Amino acid sequence: MPETTWWKRGVVYQIYPRSFQDSNGDGIGDLAGIRQRLDYLVSLGVDAVWISPIYTSPMADFGYDVADYCGIDPIFGTMKDFDRLIEAAHARGLKLILDFVPNHTSDQHPWFAESRSSRTNPKRDWYIWRDSAPDGGPPNNWISNFGGPAWEWDEATGQYYYHAFLKEQPDLNWRNPEVRQAMYDALRFWLDRGVDGFRVDVIWHLIKDAEFRDNPPNVAYQPSQAEINRFLQVHSADQPEVHEVVGEMRRVLEEYPERVLIGEIYLPLERLVTYYGQDLSGAHLPFNFQLIQTAWNAREIAALIDEYEAAIPDGGWPNWVLGNHDQPRIGARIGKQQARVAAMLLLTLRGTPTLYYGDEIGIGKVEIPEDAVQDPWEKNEPGLGLSRDPERTPMHWDGSAQGGFTTGRPWLPLDPTFTQCHVEALSKDPTSILTLYRRLIALRRQHLALSVGRYVPVEAQGDMLAYERRHGSERFVVALNLGHRPHTLVLPVGANGHVVLSTFLDRDDEPFDGQVSLRADEGLIALLQD
Ligand code: GLC
Repeated sequence: MPETTWWKRGVVYQIYPRSFQDSNGDGIGDLAGIRQRLDYLVSLGVDAVWISPIYTSPMADFGYDVADYCGIDPIFGTMKDFDRLIEAAHARGLKLILDFVPNHTSDQHPWFAESRSSRTNPKRDWYIWRDSAPDGGPPNNWISNFGGPAWEWDEATGQYYYHAFLKEQPDLNWRNPEVRQAMYDALRFWLDRGVDGFRVDVIWHLIKDAEFRDNPPNVAYQPSQAEINRFLQVHSADQPEVHEVVGEMRRVLEEYPERVLIGEIYLPLERLVTYYGQDLSGAHLPFNFQLIQTAWNAREIAALIDEYEAAIPDGGWPNWVLGNHDQPRIGARIGKQQARVAAMLLLTLRGTPTLYYGDEIGIGKVEIPEDAVQDPWEKNEPGLGLSRDPERTPMHWDGSAQGGFTTGRPWLPLDPTFTQCHVEALSKDPTSILTLYRRLIALRRQHLALSVGRYVPVEAQGDMLAYERRHGSERFVVALNLGHRPHTLVLPVGANGHVVLSTFLDRDDEPFDGQVSLRADEGLIALLQD
């Protein structure tokens, strides 16, 4: 795979479809809405769009509970809307990546209806059914990721079924070859329609321990944490046989040219990189969430970059993520000023960056009133701060009521700052965060050093994180001040050049010689002279 492959050079943008643009006034975003906003994505400069699930779903987990892998949920539109969207995206040179949710279906999926109808149904073994433990309780101690036991008793057939998430999301049995074939056919259905790749939901969960052994207790567990942390997930996920499945998915994609396989994987680095597969036969991009999980601190981030670069197998391509629909927004985590520095980091690291919609307009911490809570996880385990609603609020397009997102009542409240902080206003402001994102993406597109170039560490002390990106004779220094006090970065004698971009957008072309000074919360990209 050459370094010019689109998913290596390009920038991916994640859309949470319920919250991007509503076109019919029901308060929920839809496919026609996304189509209306494609020109915005082109103006932002991204290369590919990943859309969270749009399949037929009862929406118990907002689309991550699929009832038909080859259907579009009416909330989002019709298959015709989908075809129009993909055509319009491709006409603009944008790639379209779909979410694929293979670990579990909805309990309303016809496969599950058959499976639960009797113990002898041919689809019984498509899901994970087990007898109760001798005491009548669940077969083992596995916990649902959303709290409570992961086993649900089925009165009619007298067995438990396994669900790693909600009880409305029964896990498929990926050891069954018929399940695999049915799911690969679903992939082909979308690939035939022109989809450019998939982000595969919880891919490390697909295979469970063949003996369903109990998970060991986690001694570090605190009751303030989500219940899933009571046990170490040693037997319920990340089993060696999962790599066979990932490899099979990869081969399905390879029946088509230039498609990308992205895996959602929350594992420590050394486990994460195994998902590139033996001889790179696995996921092209096992999502790297380490920036989300690492403290906002120069030394730790620099160590993380080094460790990650060192851990990636030969020929494997890195990637970086700052936010998604399951994680607190970057602006909420580190504040508005540092969110700009984070944007510069994300867009100047080696590897494919994935942006989360709304981060480019600086959406920050959004309070969700109790009576507006939507997230089923928050409803299951209230009060622990687990809600994912704050990162799923609607996009702000203009200064009109509901930010131009909907003419109706939005399904989640907007960030109250939407009246000033919206695409229309920020686009006109040469110093806005949106302008910064646009310029960063454009620079990255213009200079191979910033996308595929070598990463060379320079400094990681106190609040200062600095590195070089090099390609051919081109050398950039990226200097990021992760703190709230000014700092000066001293470079080797004779290192001079000029500033290309500051996160404050006010130092273009400023020359430097031997050192660069950074204001509080400032990041800089500078071009070094030969
Ligand atoms: C993934 C999704 C998350 C969903 C869960 C269950 O982690 O990103 O939103 O709730 O899987 O499908």
